[in-house]
Amino acid sequence: MNTRAAVAELPERNDQDDSLCQATEERVASIRSYWDAHPLGLQYVSDPEVPVGTPEFFAHIQPWMNPYKFPWIMERIEAESARLKGKSLLEIGCGMGYDSLEFIRRGVRVTAVDLSPRAVEFCGQHFQVVGADAEEIRVDNALSLSFPDESFDAVWSNGVLHASGDTQKAIDEVFRVLKPGGRAIISHFYRKPSWMYLLKHAGRANIEYDDEDPPVNEFYTEAEIEAMFHKFQIVETYREHYRALPVARSGFKAFLYRFLFRPAYNLLPVPLAKRFAYKYSVVAVKPATG
Ligand SMILES: C[S@@+](CC[C@H](N)C(=O)[O-])C[C@H]1O[C@@H](n2cnc3c(N)ncnc32)[C@H](O)[C@@H]1O
Repeated sequence: MNTRAAVAELPERNDQDDSLCQATEERVASIRSYWDAHPLGLQYVSDPEVPVGTPEFFAHIQPWMNPYKFPWIMERIEAESARLKGKSLLEIGCGMGYDSLEFIRRGVRVTAVDLSPRAVEFCGQHFQVVGADAEEIRVDNALSLSFPDESFDAVWSNGVLHASGDTQKAIDEVFRVLKPGGRAIISHFYRKPSWMYLLKHAGRANIEYDDEDPPVNEFYTEAEIEAMFHKFQIVETYREHYRALPVARSGFKAFLYRFLFRPAYNLLPVPLAKRFAYKYSVVAVKPATG
């Protein structure tokens, strides 16, 4: 077992940080405290008797985590792992580490980072209880990664960069730490127009998370997302979550969503529903010439 979870502090700031302005620093601090208080996964515990951090706990919530809940994520991990066997992959925003774990199981050398010390702690516990070896697990900020240029063969990030505090800066950091020819597999940007964008802006109540929503979750058009990858060569894009999903919130708006909007929207034929997909994913390559 050589997994090393450096939970304590953010790493030494490097030159990249110098350009983070005060407003961004404050945004990042609020993002960190939100995710420390709401680690993704805890909301899926349906049996309070299951002790947090144990093998039973990680098995209990597993069906709700992305690769198991959304088969296309597992297929993407399988396809990318076949390319990356024996090579290095950085996961940014690893949360409890389910995506990283599936890469490790397929022979990829994984470094997993997250802004939230609590997420890093969970990820370390998770790998320990299942006996998975990461290269490293550590606290790090997507906007100022502590790795040298050209460190990794691939970067994976799912549901993170649009919520990181500065999406363009995070994508630029992915570019910097990738080796020439390296792959960026960045899933689940929030897309507009989309059914979720419409719901977020119909009235003030949110419906997505079970209590408070994250402080930052930017929505972008597909053109805006692709423009942020201007240094890369985009090889594939996908529209995902084109069916309206179950939501955790209670209240009037969530009630209308559950019993009116969702059943009606989900009757739309797939080609039409895809026009309002809520997530957008991008696979892009750093040109070999740099
Ligand atoms: C929606 S959760 C996704 C977690 C994981 N990728 C998954 O799919 O289970 C977002 C994660 O991104 C992390 N995050 C947010 N901003 C970040 C940043 N600037 N740098 C690194 N991680 C960040 C959060 O701490 C949180 O764990």
